[in-house]
Amino acid sequence: MKSLVLVSSKTGNTYKIARYVQKGFGCDCELKRTTEKYDLSAYDTVLVGFWLDSGHVDNDSLSLLKRLYYKKVGIFGTLGGDPQSEAAAKVMKTAVDALYEGHRGNILLGTFWVRGKISKSVLSVMYEKFPELKNDEKHIKRITEASVHPNAEDRLTALLNAQYWQKKAQKIKARG
Ligand SMILES: Cc1cc2nc3c(=O)[nH]c(=O)nc-3n(C[C@H](O)[C@H](O)[C@H](O)COP(=O)(O)O)c2cc1C
Repeated sequence: MKSLVLVSSKTGNTYKIARYVQKGFGCDCELKRTTEKYDLSAYDTVLVGFWLDSGHVDNDSLSLLKRLYYKKVGIFGTLGGDPQSEAAAKVMKTAVDALYEGHRGNILLGTFWVRGKISKSVLSVMYEKFPELKNDEKHIKRITEASVHPNAEDRLTALLNAQYWQKKAQKIKARG
């Protein structure tokens, strides 16, 4: 059986990270966007990449997580805010809960977050709606910090997590 990185990415950050997840997991791992055609039955391992959309796992990824049965699954996400925050941990928990919901035989390999810049077009739409944000120090700090991500450290995080997931997935196979 094969492995697949399945990624949802609106502005490209999560797709960039997904390429390193694919690299870290190994050469037989395929990479597709959730908007492409794919046949889940061909894979025993699915590595799901999502982005944080208004405080939630993006819809495509959430519905994907709820459609997985008997898969080994890694979950990774990108967000503009702080990946170490309690809020980020809560969102990741909703992704894991969606995977386990209804006891569908899935096994979690692990999860990780990395930061991703907020695109200029998204920011200008945001400023049309909430012009006061332009002068909000907390907001400015957050977008400035995010603007350099994903960076080399984030790519390494993706690579190392995927290598760990691959070893874990192999052990599960060995146990039968
Ligand atoms: C419509 C929209 C809503 C977003 N909402 C949040 C949010 O609530 N919290 C946050 O930290 N980042 C938020 N972001 C930032 C994205 O999560 C971040 O830029 C992510 O890396 C985007 O991934 P992508 O480039 O793969 O689409 C939002 C971005 C967009 C476009």
